[in-house]
Amino acid sequence: MDGNGRWAKKRGLSRSEGHIEGAKTFRRIGEYAGDLGIKNISFYAFSTENWARPQNEVNAIMQLFYDYLEEARERLDENKEKGIRLRFLGDRTVLSPELQYMMDYIEDETKEMTKINLNIAVNYGGRQEILHSVKKIAQRVKNGELLPEEISLDDIQNGLYTLEQPPVDLIIRPSGEQRLSNFLLWQSAYAEFWYSDVLWPDFTEKDFDEALKAYEKRNRRFGGI
Ligand code: IPE
Ligand code: MG
Repeated sequence: MDGNGRWAKKRGLSRSEGHIEGAKTFRRIGEYAGDLGIKNISFYAFSTENWARPQNEVNAIMQLFYDYLEEARERLDENKEKGIRLRFLGDRTVLSPELQYMMDYIEDETKEMTKINLNIAVNYGGRQEILHSVKKIAQRVKNGELLPEEISLDDIQNGLYTLEQPPVDLIIRPSGEQRLSNFLLWQSAYAEFWYSDVLWPDFTEKDFDEALKAYEKRNRRFGGI
C-alpha cells in the first residue's frame, strides 16, 4: 500500500489523513479479494524501515492499526462466517502490549478458518524474516537436532512468518514505484509484478481487476521453458 502521503499532499492534507484514506482502501480491497475467492492476500502496512518516519506519523499509523484490530475483534463472528483467517507478518515483539494482545487474540480466534488467508505485514522486513528463520535453524543445529548439511529449503521456509502458505503469485504495487522494498523476499522468488500509477487511497476494485487480468496473461515458466 503506497502513495498515501502523496495523495494527502496533493489535497493539502496531512500525511496522517492520507493514511486514514489508505486504511479505507485496505478494507475495501480486502473485502473485494474475499468476494472474488482469492485464497491468500497480504497487505504491506508497515515495514521495519518505516520507524524512520516522524513520530507523529508512526503514531497515526499504529492508531489506525489499533482501530482495525478493534473492528476485527468486534466483527469476529462476521469474519468467521466469511471464513477469514487473519494473520500478522513481522516482528510484533516491539509493538505495544495492547497491539500484541489483540493480534494474538484475533489470530487464535480465526485459526480454523480456511476460505481466505488475510495477512497484514506490520513491522515486517523480508531480510529480517529470513534472519529470524536462520536463527531458529541455528538453534536446532546447536541442539544437535539437525546437521548443517541437512538444512533444506523447507527448513528455511518453515521458519518464515508465512509458515505453510504458498509462494506469492502476484505483487501489486501502486503509486508508480517499481521496487520490492523488502517485501516477502523469499516468497516472491517467482512472483509476477504489476505496477500502477494510482495512489493507494484512489485504488479501486477496477484497478484490482486490471491487475488480475494482466496476471492471467502472464506465461509463468518458473525457470523452465
Ligand atoms: C503508505 O504510503 C505506506 C505506509 C508506510 C503506510 P506512503 O506513506 O509511503 O506514501 P508516499 O509514498 O509518501 O506517498
Ligand atoms: Mg511510500
